[in-house]
Amino acid sequence: AALHSAERPLVGRHVIVTSGPTREPIDPARFLSNRSSGKQGHAIAAAAARAGAQVTLVSGPVEIADPPGVTVRHVETALEMLAAVEAALPADIFIGAAAVADWRIEPAPDKIKKQPGGAPPTLVLRENPDILALVARRESERPALVVGFAAETRDVIANAQEKLARKGCDLIVANDVSAASGVFGGDANEVRLVGADGVESWPRLDKSEVAARLVARLAERLGATAEP
Ligand code: CTP
Ligand code: CA
Repeated sequence: AALHSAERPLVGRHVIVTSGPTREPIDPARFLSNRSSGKQGHAIAAAAARAGAQVTLVSGPVEIADPPGVTVRHVETALEMLAAVEAALPADIFIGAAAVADWRIEPAPDKIKKQPGGAPPTLVLRENPDILALVARRESERPALVVGFAAETRDVIANAQEKLARKGCDLIVANDVSAASGVFGGDANEVRLVGADGVESWPRLDKSEVAARLVARLAERLGATAEP
């Protein structure tokens, strides 16, 4: 009880965070990916650890260091990320901050060669599983709080509300990733917390400050449900 202080409200809790992009191979030399830096997801994992949680961070390929005090599972593809998340359950909180590639490709076993004078190859895309929705809709081991992100370039709140309902999660952290926002790869983020009970808009903050505030909000919500 002494450790379960106001500063460490997540003592005794397990938090799983996904972060970074996924990388979907095209052939042994090439891949499909996106611009996620992992900065926001990694900052959330670090903040949860500082709040006393046991943290499993499932990270795609990123250039930033593993946060201290966190168990990191390094993965490449969305299918590997899903398997690592499932292996890490059960958890009290799941936070899906990764920019999971929406599609994968049936990878070619050998490097695809140019056909001189011929047509370029056609990449056949298959939809990846939605890790957030699968966690949120689990019948067993559903975390008490399931939190998603919504990276939008327009209609941020409406799109976030649609994602909240479609995926069955408890909260969506929505942000504007339009080119003008500078969010992708940058150190600041301007987010809105979209829940069934309403929308909370935060000012533009450092990603570490967004992480600290989010962790504090989640601890409040969790505290309202059950003690560990
Ligand atoms: N997500 C996931 N698995 C996927 C796709 C998305 O877990 N295969 C999660 C992300 O980690 C994020 C949330 O779902 O927490 C929303 O991701 P986003 O890309 O904004 O939503 P999508 O449902 O993929 O819709 P779209 O890209 O078409 O906007
Ligand atoms: Ca997507």
